[in-house]
Amino acid sequence: MKKKINIAIDGPAAAGKSTISRRVAQRMAYIYIDTGAMYRAVTLHAIRNGRGVIDQLDDLDIRFGTDGTSIYLNGEDVSADIRTQEVTNNVSEISSLAEVRRYLVSMQQKIAEDKGVVMDGRDIGTTVLPEAELKVYMKASPEIRAKRRLKEEKERGTDIDLATLTDQIIRRDDLDMNREISPLIKAHDAVLLDTSHMSIPEVEEKIIRMAEDLLRED
Ligand code: DC
Repeated sequence: MKKKINIAIDGPAAAGKSTISRRVAQRMAYIYIDTGAMYRAVTLHAIRNGRGVIDQLDDLDIRFGTDGTSIYLNGEDVSADIRTQEVTNNVSEISSLAEVRRYLVSMQQKIAEDKGVVMDGRDIGTTVLPEAELKVYMKASPEIRAKRRLKEEKERGTDIDLATLTDQIIRRDDLDMNREISPLIKAHDAVLLDTSHMSIPEVEEKIIRMAEDLLRED
């Protein structure tokens, strides 16, 4: 059988993780898992139904569509609803809760059991897949990340300015890096990629080359 590896991609908000991870997964015919979308789905569920639902997560059905982009919450396609400002502004707080992390981390580990997964998030290399064969930590300056996010938000039709987005990114970095459980931190064995001045194809190529080197070993 063809050898497969798992690829863990971590980094702060808007560092380019999902765009790159999706492209790498497509090139390698691997499954792409956006763990941020899972935390966003739980946050949407809590906004709609009240914080009490966090105690009954086992009843929650979160699935990805076959296109690797859509996400379903109890059978409903919530791919657009999880990207609203309300969800973005609450997701760091909800994702700092122990019961939420326990539930989603175990789901993520199950998905990656058979390898052939590119998973992006904040704690993939450190907590979810500490044995992943390839770990990448992507970073870029807050200003550059805010500019990238502004382009995405404009395409989505959101009325937001650069200053608000920069503040939001800095606040989310602070919450994600300083929370008690599984804070955002580079795994000691992760390759650091500063994408501030790299194009998407450049980053993609670099990761593909590292993956191919690992697949050629033994
Ligand atoms: O990648 P994103 O911006 O969609 O992630 C949304 C939030 O979810 C992020 O601010 C922190 C949280 N998150 C997390 O705590 N652990 C992960 N593995 C992925 C995301």
